[in-house]
Amino acid sequence: MLRALAWGHPAFMLASITLAFLALRAGMSLRRGRRGGPRPGRDARSRHLRLAKPAVLAVAVGFVGGPVSMALLRGREPFGTAHAWIGLLTLALFASAGLLGRRLEQGRSQARDAHALLGLLAVLFATAAAMAGLVLLP
Ligand code: HEM
Ligand code: HEM
Repeated sequence: MLRALAWGHPAFMLASITLAFLALRAGMSLRRGRRGGPRPGRDARSRHLRLAKPAVLAVAVGFVGGPVSMALLRGREPFGTAHAWIGLLTLALFASAGLLGRRLEQGRSQARDAHALLGLLAVLFATAAAMAGLVLLP
């Protein structure tokens, strides 16, 4: 039973990372359009927002599951693994991309390059966290 529950965080994170990747792809089509490439469809911006907002939320919620699972299901001290620290950095990158994204959405910032870089790094670090998490699988 506990073993099955311990799959919760990895499965949830895999779904969250997939969503984040789709958000990144939608963001990159906006970026290409802005830089003179093929124009994305009219709903491309709202598609990016529809994917990115739940992705950031899912990463944040799923993150909490890691240390909770570590403590309650495995009886191990949380934040004792490289995965946890790469995960923390990943969370910070998603939060920064999300906060800046919100400012872009509201027209309070024009820092699209910085947002795109933070978003790209967030997805890359999430992939690194996923790889570092493999050795912890039940
Ligand atoms: C999964 C996290 C995210 C990733 C990977 C991501 C990625 C990107 C990328 C690559 C762009 C294109 C930037 C450019 O034109 O150079 C973009 C644009 C944008 N993103 Fe995100 N983003 C994320 C989260 C968010 C969130 C949470 C919001 C809002 C709350 C947001 C709002 C925006 C807005 C408003 C734009 C500009 C759209 C436009 O040019 O009209 N993003 N994003
Ligand atoms: C598909 C990708 C991922 C896999 C396969 C995975 C796997 C795991 C596993 C097996 C554990 C141990 C849970 C337990 O012992 O019951 C864990 C813990 C944890 N995970 Fe993940 N994870 C993934 C993605 C992420 C991401 C993207 C983050 C951060 C945003 C993250 C943050 C954490 C944290 C903070 C812990 C607690 C580790 C500790 O306290 O030492 N994980 N993960």
